Amino acid sequence: MSKSHLAFLCCLAFAGAQQVGNFQNETHPKLQWIKCAADGECQRINSELVMDANLRWLHKVDDWHNCFTDGQWDNKVCNSVDNCTANCALEGAQYSYVYGVKAGNDSVSQQFMTKFDFSRNVGSRLFFSASKDKYQMFTLLNNELAFDVDLSTVECGINAALHFVAMDEDGGMARYASNKAGAEFGTGYCDSSCPRSLKFVAGKANTDMWIPSETDPVSGAGLLGACCPEFAVWNSNAHSFSMSSHICPGDDYQVCQGKDCDAWWIAPGERYNARCDFWGCGYNPYRLGATDFYGKGKKVDTSKKFTVVTQFSETKVTQFFIQNGTRIDMPDPLLKGLPKHNGLTPDICAKSTVLFDEPDRFGLNGGWQTHLKMLSRPMVLAMSINDDHYMHNLWLDSTFPIDDTDHPIPGSVRGDCPIDDNDPQMVEAMYPKAKVVWSNIRFGPIGSTVKA
Ligand SMILES: *[C@@H]1O[C@H](CO)[C@@H](O)[C@H](O)[C@H]1NC(C)=O
Ligand SMILES: *[C@@H]1O[C@H](CO)[C@@H](O)[C@H](O)[C@H]1NC(C)=O
Ligand SMILES: *[C@@H]1O[C@H](CO)[C@@H](O)[C@H](O)[C@H]1NC(C)=O
Ligand SMILES: *[C@@H]1O[C@H](CO)[C@@H](O)[C@H](O)[C@H]1NC(C)=O
Repeated sequence: MSKSHLAFLCCLAFAGAQQVGNFQNETHPKLQWIKCAADGECQRINSELVMDANLRWLHKVDDWHNCFTDGQWDNKVCNSVDNCTANCALEGAQYSYVYGVKAGNDSVSQQFMTKFDFSRNVGSRLFFSASKDKYQMFTLLNNELAFDVDLSTVECGINAALHFVAMDEDGGMARYASNKAGAEFGTGYCDSSCPRSLKFVAGKANTDMWIPSETDPVSGAGLLGACCPEFAVWNSNAHSFSMSSHICPGDDYQVCQGKDCDAWWIAPGERYNARCDFWGCGYNPYRLGATDFYGKGKKVDTSKKFTVVTQFSETKVTQFFIQNGTRIDMPDPLLKGLPKHNGLTPDICAKSTVLFDEPDRFGLNGGWQTHLKMLSRPMVLAMSINDDHYMHNLWLDSTFPIDDTDHPIPGSVRGDCPIDDNDPQMVEAMYPKAKVVWSNIRFGPIGSTVKA
């Protein structure tokens, strides 16, 4: 069958739909993980990884013409939401060459940056898939997740993250009929920041009121965003880490518009009107006073690989670490005014917002009960590496909010990274070789995945 014939068939069948291209086959890298049962019996599961749709080449159906370049939509192909949705196709991903993603049997590495041809790529986000077109779903409550991580080259300003998000198992194909790409092409991302940088929201192109980013040459923001609850198991680099729970008024994928989405960059006083708890109830030992716990040469020595175990019980979410055969428990908070709980508890969530003088979005969204509801629903596992054009990841490893007095407000110091060095321009120039390696991922009832 000729190419033009194919194109004709495709567009009759899928008129008005978020399309798939056919220049590059989509071949998901394979990754094994280990599923354990309550009795400690474990089995290997063959899974796949899929690249987020938002990072893919988006071009005119059966044509090399770009729909989206350098942070902008092509205004001929994308002269309306429906035309853009119908005329643009998501392409298969070149995992290693373009994105620097390499999977072994039970490990996967994500390079921070790659250079290829006359172009380059910064950052990536992968989802765990159970099959070609379904994400792997995990229900966290009363379970634990263990993984090994090597982030010794992940320096200041870069975030190597492992999150659970309440995405649809099929990437939104059933919910939104115009989405014909689905989980096979990594569609349907949402999180508690309600990102408006997504090129497709609810199966349609997000072209309305799109504004290219002033700082990120490949990104921008449209009118619509996609919100959903999120449990951030691991935001990290070699200097700091945090774990945090981010709840929303809704349980699953929700579309927001304009200001209703915005988490942090609109006018002061309005900034917490956002729908979800973007800041979250979090635990970062450095921020809580235990500054000698985590880092190169510290108790958890980030110059070498280590294991992170996260346990999700009804009363607490906590983590411990294993390095060189030794179990290292999460330290208690050292700041006055916080209970001695070494993890997320209702009390830690309530008291830290008071101590840090933050609006209580966690409480307003229903607090611990809503958090437990999130942990009781199936979620998608996302792994990413990125720098941050909005907040320079200062909230992770440096000082935020920035205060020019000598007495930073409690909770503003989150790590030892200098404020001025976290700008993506500097980070990309200084650490082009950074990469994170995730391996030996294990999941099962609390106590089943590791002996420690
Ligand atoms: C895609 O896969 C098909 C079937 O396996 C193969 O014939 C074709 O050459 C592949 N196309 C590309 C661009 O790799
Ligand atoms: C959408 O495409 C159709 C068919 O090419 C065209 O007639 C219509 O004018 C386009 N819509 C807009 C808003 O330009
Ligand atoms: C993956 O497993 C196969 C079979 O057990 C082995 O031959 C191969 O070396 C392994 N590859 C890596 C990267 O560990
Ligand atoms: C690991 O532990 C062994 C035995 O306790 C010790 O000899 C070795 O130096 C440790 N290695 C590292 C990298 O800490």
